[in-house]
Amino acid sequence: MNNIQLDNQGRLKHFLGIGGLKRSLLIDILDTAASLINVPEKSVKKVPLLRGKTVVNLFFEPSTRTRTTFELAAKRLSADVLNFNIDTSSSSKGENLIDMLHNLQAMHCDMFIVRHGAGGAAYFMAQHVAPDISIINAGDGQHAHPTQAMLDMYTIRQNKGDFAPLRVAIVGDIRHSRVARSDIQALTILGVSQVRVVGPKTLIPKGVEELGVKVFHDLKAGLKEVDVVIMLRLQRERMLRGAFLPSAYEYFQYYGLTKEVLKVTHPDAIVMHPGPINRGVEIDSNVADGPYSVILQQVSNGIAIRMAVMAMTLGAVSEKKDAN
Ligand code: CP
Repeated sequence: MNNIQLDNQGRLKHFLGIGGLKRSLLIDILDTAASLINVPEKSVKKVPLLRGKTVVNLFFEPSTRTRTTFELAAKRLSADVLNFNIDTSSSSKGENLIDMLHNLQAMHCDMFIVRHGAGGAAYFMAQHVAPDISIINAGDGQHAHPTQAMLDMYTIRQNKGDFAPLRVAIVGDIRHSRVARSDIQALTILGVSQVRVVGPKTLIPKGVEELGVKVFHDLKAGLKEVDVVIMLRLQRERMLRGAFLPSAYEYFQYYGLTKEVLKVTHPDAIVMHPGPINRGVEIDSNVADGPYSVILQQVSNGIAIRMAVMAMTLGAVSEKKDAN
């Protein structure tokens, strides 16, 4: 991706994907989020960084965590928020995406948060909006989910400190996962010791090794001595062609994360999942609700990360200059 997401000074203008961003910028996002993490715990849960700005949530696909945490994040930055309802919009009358965008733009909005089933949709919109508007990708097809990756990195740093010594395994449906792609990019840029992907051959994309990951098809081998386990659900809505699995029951026997399987990881390993979780398919309830699970921490951290990205893209906080 050419870096349409940076302005002439190298500052974040849009947030469309992790690929091509510098380590220093990712660290800046994490540090900015750290400075905002306590805002939701104050008696007045607001800071005035985006006062007078208007943020539009444009979700063409379902979402629980991302849409609500973007809305909360915008409100905690004192922005006005418009939750655009696609189902009752004029898109059903044949209005195309660009016309819709130009009409919303004419209402003097400042930022669009976009989730779309088509990979590249957020990038396409960033190419067509007015120069003073920012686009944030809230998940586009199988392509990218950059704020999920950054809240995952925040949660890893919060629990483990330094990225350098870590071995991280991403388990499950790597093939259809925008989270896996964005996490692999972020972990690699942040310099972890090893990224592994674990899953059946049908759910590991060809050529994934070129991203710098080690591939495992056996769950226990892939999890041996790792510090971080990121579980992914089976993304059945994207399995449109071909049979990828015999059954959910059989998948759990081979790739389900149980307390027994967790014994092979580092004793202090954390268990993550972007959600929604499918209990008894990729993860056992004892693990999802157990002492090593940081799944709900991820959700909480999503608010601060989204506050940081919104404030940075609209130039409401200064970014540190660093050549790394
Ligand atoms: N992790 C994530 O993107 O969840 P939602 O689909 O609920 O937003």
